[in-house]
Amino acid sequence: MLIFAHRGASGYAPENTLKAMALALELGCEAVELDVHHADGELWVFHDRRLSPKSNGKGLLAQQSSSYLRQLRVEGEPIPTLRQVLELIEGRMTVNIELKGVGCVEPFIQQYPQLLQLGYQPEQLLVSSFNHLWLKQVKQQLPDVPVAPLLEGIALNQAAVVSELKAWSLHLDISFINRELVADAHQRGAKVYVYTVDDADDIRALAALGVDGIFANYPDKAAAALTQE
Ligand code: G3P
Ligand code: CA
Repeated sequence: MLIFAHRGASGYAPENTLKAMALALELGCEAVELDVHHADGELWVFHDRRLSPKSNGKGLLAQQSSSYLRQLRVEGEPIPTLRQVLELIEGRMTVNIELKGVGCVEPFIQQYPQLLQLGYQPEQLLVSSFNHLWLKQVKQQLPDVPVAPLLEGIALNQAAVVSELKAWSLHLDISFINRELVADAHQRGAKVYVYTVDDADDIRALAALGVDGIFANYPDKAAAALTQE
């Protein structure tokens, strides 16, 4: 099972920071997940629309200047750009880029060729979003990019979502997972990655359901859970 360090190794370091990404590398993770917003022509790795309370800034991230965002801190760590994170990782992990904020699709499409050149194979930059229209735009402009629709509940149209987007994987909430959903996705050629899972019993139960991966805040403990009874 592929274990994504969720927002970096966020159980141990401030989420979505270079420190959390470096720690995921140190822990030997194969994959990492992060969240992206757009502001001032740049892509910023941060989870929330609002800068407070996760950083020492105020207001909506999307309305700020780059110079303001650069001086902010998340528990003492800077808010990195997507480019900075990918420069740090240098292709040593698969990176799941979750497009979170309004307006991040166009800059992502524009930056993609340069981002890829930072040491990645196309299948190593997996783009996900709860906004499936954004994924459709990505797929139309960049057909080689693996895309992954995020679902929060059980979708009546899971089959259509997978086939229309030619999805690499479906990212499902642990609260709604069941054997039928996993089998349906697999039958359509999509992997199933489940968020966000830190409980050892949950992890083993998901493995038994045949899911292909999970998002974990403590990726080392998740890996250990899989080797224990
Ligand atoms: O990508 C899986 C998970 O990160 C989605 O939810 O709120 O943690 O971004 P959230
Ligand atoms: Ca996320």
